[in-house]
Amino acid sequence: MITAGDLADLGARLARDAGPAPPAVFDAWVDRVPADADEALVAHIKHQALLRCYQARYVVLPSEAPAAGVLDHLGRHYDEDRLQDLYSLRPRLEAELIGPLQTAAAAASGDGDVLAYVERLLPELRAVKSDAFLEALAANEHRLDHYRNFLLQSSADLLAEASASALGLIGEFGAPQSALFRILIDEFGYGAHSQKHSVLYKATLRSFGLSDEYNFYSRLFDTNTLVLHNAIHFLFQNPRHFFQQVGFLLFAETAYQRSTLFHTRHLGRFHPDADARYFAEHAHIDLHHTRMVVDEVVTPLVERFGPEVGREIITGAELTRAVFARSGAGLLALVAAFDSAPSAVYGLGDHDGPPVTPATPQDRSTARVQLGAIGSVSAADFARFPAAAVGRLAAA
Ligand SMILES: [Fe+2]
Ligand SMILES: [Fe+2]
Repeated sequence: MITAGDLADLGARLARDAGPAPPAVFDAWVDRVPADADEALVAHIKHQALLRCYQARYVVLPSEAPAAGVLDHLGRHYDEDRLQDLYSLRPRLEAELIGPLQTAAAAASGDGDVLAYVERLLPELRAVKSDAFLEALAANEHRLDHYRNFLLQSSADLLAEASASALGLIGEFGAPQSALFRILIDEFGYGAHSQKHSVLYKATLRSFGLSDEYNFYSRLFDTNTLVLHNAIHFLFQNPRHFFQQVGFLLFAETAYQRSTLFHTRHLGRFHPDADARYFAEHAHIDLHHTRMVVDEVVTPLVERFGPEVGREIITGAELTRAVFARSGAGLLALVAAFDSAPSAVYGLGDHDGPPVTPATPQDRSTARVQLGAIGSVSAADFARFPAAAVGRLAAA
């Protein structure tokens, strides 16, 4: 169990290591845990800590040179002592935060007949006709603010898209490795930077007036966003979950070809000037990626290793289903809660204060709570939000 003391030590360490004025990409803070923190707030801050553990594992650079040069920041961010501290905390955070989700997914993995599972899964996902969040936005006069929040929350993962899966690829495991590598190079635009999926996503962010700098909005990431990011990295940063990684790809590539099609249509209808290439590209290429995962990865691996790895693949797919569903339901619940708050003011506002959940004790008379990119509500209204909501107080 990670204690509040562990988190406080980590927070102090990360702040010290980051040094003064770190660029956003290296700004690896975690929030302070207040003495009277509620359970949801503690879980949120633990997920921040796990996010920092995973982010320490891959290369990021600021888009512009910092005033004092880049090397000092780079040295601090990837300092070996700092990395070792993060790595030593990681297994306990994972066991506590992601372990229960993994156990639930394993319980749904059945007999391990993954080919029969694929035969059910693909038609099921492809029969999905709409996205509940986008449906809610179609009839919503504040759709722009809600959509900007969707983009901001998704940026946690998509600005380094496929970096998690790249971590699962090095080594030597036969022909499936090369199929996975072909998918990976598609994600990286086949080496054409302008076609790299994260670069397409940056263009979408900019076309909605949002920053495209990695980590820029991390103070506004909510718990569901962190759970999604951390569950994916939990799979790919642990080689022992290799077959669950394959399950992630099976589910994600298939679900994504539908959801990105709905986003392409939504943008074409309501935001025709926005850059929608990210979504249009996925609606097309993920059809191929599903086929490659099924024919060139899942099938030969199961032929080689039998049903015990079939169960793992299904577990990874079901874990992915659960965290995708959780993030979709969370976004949808926020639309309703925010729009019905009498004190709602839309738009990105001040959010330099500490994080709060609806259960966090606070002075409710004057404080305002910023929720992602949607806007702010009074602390009194926020107390009636769904329990999973996390916002930030405006600076005191
Ligand atoms: Fe992609
Ligand atoms: Fe893909």
